[in-house]
Amino acid sequence: MKQFLNSVEIGVKGQKTLPAEAYLSAEVLALEHKRIFSRRWLCVARADEFSKAGDFRVREIGNESVIVVCSQDHQIRAHLNLCRHRGTRICTKDRGTFSRTIQCPYHAWTYGLDGKLVGVPDETQFDDFCRDDYPLHAVECVVWEGFVWINLAEEPEPFETSFAPVLNKFEAWNMGSLVCGGRRNYEVAANWKLIVQNYSECYHCAVIHPGLTRMAPPKSGGNDLVEGPFLGGYMDVTEPGGSLTESGRACGLPVGAFSQEDIQRAYFYVLFPHLLLSLHHDYVMVHTLWPLEPGRTRVECEWLFHPDSIGSKKWNPDDGIEFWDRTNREDWEVSELTQLGVTSSRYAPGPYSNREAMSAAFDRQYVRAMNAES
Ligand code: FES
Ligand SMILES: [Fe+2]
Repeated sequence: MKQFLNSVEIGVKGQKTLPAEAYLSAEVLALEHKRIFSRRWLCVARADEFSKAGDFRVREIGNESVIVVCSQDHQIRAHLNLCRHRGTRICTKDRGTFSRTIQCPYHAWTYGLDGKLVGVPDETQFDDFCRDDYPLHAVECVVWEGFVWINLAEEPEPFETSFAPVLNKFEAWNMGSLVCGGRRNYEVAANWKLIVQNYSECYHCAVIHPGLTRMAPPKSGGNDLVEGPFLGGYMDVTEPGGSLTESGRACGLPVGAFSQEDIQRAYFYVLFPHLLLSLHHDYVMVHTLWPLEPGRTRVECEWLFHPDSIGSKKWNPDDGIEFWDRTNREDWEVSELTQLGVTSSRYAPGPYSNREAMSAAFDRQYVRAMNAES
């Protein structure tokens, strides 16, 4: 029997919100890049975006730029977007398809999709030169649940170790075989942590989300992951067989074989640091957060459906997309207001409610990650 605790049972033991510099300081963001975003596994794409050799995406993470590409042997690989000759950024597009190679725009050093240096104009003019010494820097890359994950560390903790607590947890939703039925990107004028804290509690739901509150009672449900890098649980969905959609009805075929109990639940998890997973019986919604500046975050949302849903009578993706788009905007608005407020000279950490226990747990995880040396 799974153990779920309502947030008030978990409690916050007097914990307060983070100090202002956590949201405002460029130095803190630089340290977050060093201690968190350069060390943790980051979700960069869906694997089905790399269906043929040469398909690529480029991701900017702090000062790093990473090319994620499907190589000739149909492996998804990642390389730093950094020429080994004079250090030039190679690829300036954010997605596309390379021919068979990746060529630097400066002196035309040319790399294979696997990162090997394969072409150097006037190669004999380099002293003691060996191409094998200058491949693109490899970035660790794995696929899990249909998502592509990279880790910028030179010797990252293995994905299976980092994700051990949740490796099989989401199997019921079959995310590896789901397909994208919609995408929305947002730029939010708020620190990335304010967005996670907001996602992690429903104390605000009755105030700003009348739509969500009608379908999922804000005090309902409980959490089964309550400390550490993976946090979250579920809320009840009241409409029998319903879902979190504009109409309140399911907007796609079931993505798995769920118990009656799970059909009446929406599960919400934070996968530290930047993935928010919203699991419904008829679709999965994913947020990934990309800090741009202390007070600015790019948020990418995707709605994933059972492949048989696409084009079927049961499929009404806009019903789920519009619901979350509105809910997102309601959340961005208060997150942006919080960002404005914490810039005040009189801001001081305020008390968390026990109903914000998961936001407080996220902050503890954040502080641990920031304090971890090495
Ligand atoms: S810097 Fe890339 S080829 Fe010279
Ligand atoms: Fe919200």
